[in-house]
Amino acid sequence: MRIVLVGPPGAGKGTQAAYLAKNLSIPHISTGDLFRANISQGTPLGKRAKEFIDAGELVPDEVTIGMARERMAEPDAVNGFLLDGFPRNVAQAEALDAALKGDGVALDAVLDLEVPEDEVVKRIAGRRICRNDSAHVFHVTYNPPKTEGVCDVCGGELYQRADDSEETVRRRLEVYHTQTEPIIDHYRAQGLVVTISALGEVTEVTERAMAALKRGAAA
Ligand code: AP5
Ligand code: MG
Repeated sequence: MRIVLVGPPGAGKGTQAAYLAKNLSIPHISTGDLFRANISQGTPLGKRAKEFIDAGELVPDEVTIGMARERMAEPDAVNGFLLDGFPRNVAQAEALDAALKGDGVALDAVLDLEVPEDEVVKRIAGRRICRNDSAHVFHVTYNPPKTEGVCDVCGGELYQRADDSEETVRRRLEVYHTQTEPIIDHYRAQGLVVTISALGEVTEVTERAMAALKRGAAA
């Protein structure tokens, strides 16, 4: 399956993507995680992206689209993928549509995670991620690691993302509403959007998402 996951910052895209990707046997491709890996390795792409990420702005399309396409061209993504955080504006959605068309394939669904803003703020305030891999995500109250400050998956050090400060989160939410939400209408016109509530336990949300994707794929 080829799925796009969309939702505001802190909705639980990364958290759900880990389970959904495993259940569906497809790779989880997060442009945010790819940028953070580049930043920690000090690559030129990472240096370029960091200033935008720290300000809560989108990284320019010419950097982002190429990076996402390169990852999607890897062998594990030949039969499907779960995109998390890409596309993030209409220009990226159009570039993705054109690329998939060129490959003779198409998206199966766009899974839209709905969460009220006060819940998003609580989720982001308590989030801790792993130094080794930003896809290892915890929450001090909702999903605490077994040992405080230590990643359950790989033993790495847990820390708070620089862009999770109150001021930057406010800007990221604005950017989501003005630049990213329009892709939902773009894909609604293609009959691809499946909206679910992302409230409740992580496992409940995963079950809801799996059921909605089955319905979406059958429709
Ligand atoms: P990115 O890393 O994609 O950040 P985001 O979209 O803002 O989303 P988050 O990762 O903050 O939240 P999430 O929905 O993944 O939630 P999570 O699962 O962690 O992008 C960062 C930046 O990179 C962007 O601002 C931009 O600058 C740049 N960028 C990335 N892609 C780009 C693109 N395509 N174009 C241009 N720029 C781009 O969960 C949040 C917390 O809640 C966690 O602590 C988790 O444990 C907890 N939680 C999850 N589910 C539940 C639940 N059901 N109940 C209770 N707690 C829960
Ligand atoms: Mg994420």
